[in-house]
Amino acid sequence: MSAFSLCVISGDGVGREVIPCAVEVLQQVLPGVALIDADAGWDCFTRAGQALPDATVEKIEACGAALFGAVSSPSRKVEGYRSPIVQMRQRFDLYANLRPTRALGADRAVDLLIVRENTQGLYAGREYLRGDEAIAERVITRAASMRIGQMAFRLAAERPRRHVTIVHKANILPITDGVFRDAVRDAGADYPGVTINETLVDTAAMLLASRPEQFDVIVTTNLFGDILSDVASVWGGGMGVAPALNLGASVAVAEPVHGSAPDIAGKGIANPAGAILSVALLLRYHWGRPAEADRIERAVCAAIEAGCRTPDLGGRATTRDMLEAILERMKG
Ligand code: NAI
Ligand code: MG
Repeated sequence: MSAFSLCVISGDGVGREVIPCAVEVLQQVLPGVALIDADAGWDCFTRAGQALPDATVEKIEACGAALFGAVSSPSRKVEGYRSPIVQMRQRFDLYANLRPTRALGADRAVDLLIVRENTQGLYAGREYLRGDEAIAERVITRAASMRIGQMAFRLAAERPRRHVTIVHKANILPITDGVFRDAVRDAGADYPGVTINETLVDTAAMLLASRPEQFDVIVTTNLFGDILSDVASVWGGGMGVAPALNLGASVAVAEPVHGSAPDIAGKGIANPAGAILSVALLLRYHWGRPAEADRIERAVCAAIEAGCRTPDLGGRATTRDMLEAILERMKG
């Protein structure tokens, strides 16, 4: 097997359009990468009865890294169906979800990183009916909070501003978010060079929408991180551009933040930048190849700044145009 192996899971909708672009870009910087295709998602569930087949799990395990497009998940309960990305996060203990946002162009100095706890909170999957009550349990442990705190501080220590903002709602959820906040603060004790503050999640949402420059690293629980990263993504060009990396101790799954985008799927106009930048995160944080990650990130920025824009960025470029503009800027 090659030094680098990647399990490629396009999934549903625009996943099938953007993932091949991200693979092409990866092959430019790691020509020897071994690629193994695998299946997951809603189509897979309707065809094969499993949203995340055992064969896919085995391939991810064998590669140690995956690139995942998006899936269409129904918003009503379907017997036997569970979102494959949530399953993967738990199965491989992908405890951190890294979601950076950098402003396009020079007009705003936004450069922030959301470090989202990725296995617990309201995504623990403990949802049930008890008589008239519909209940979702919000699970937070000290160990998982310490672990995500350590990740946030470790990454903040490598950044120029060296600052961590803990986002929580401990005024209303003093037990669960009290455990989270205290454990993250304790993790910070090992990083005296990193400064810390705390912000309630509603205020954090307002500040992300109005003064995003003030944030460096944000560490927060699962659902808050999911929502806040969509707000933050606006500064980087929106959902089509936002990248993410699900990171565990031995496995990582790169995944654009967006979903299957049924409104534009099949039209050839999905923005591939989010998927391509997710590959850069895999290179930087899992494979230890920051130079290759920089090369991709610079090419994506340069292509967009040169005016190559898909409709979500206000332009008329197709997915293919955007890919070619990026590949062009990776030459040499
Ligand atoms: P979405 O992210 O698919 O779409 C939201 C908006 O962003 C739409 O207007 C869409 O056209 C646009 N958009 C998304 N990706 C884009 C791209 N690459 N280029 C240009 N524009 C893009 O979210 P939505 O519509 O709420 O959900 C659709 C489906 O996706 C649902 O079934 C949902 O469950 C699923 N979903 C899956 C995720 C995943 O697999 N990780 C994450 C979010 C949603
Ligand atoms: Mg989301």
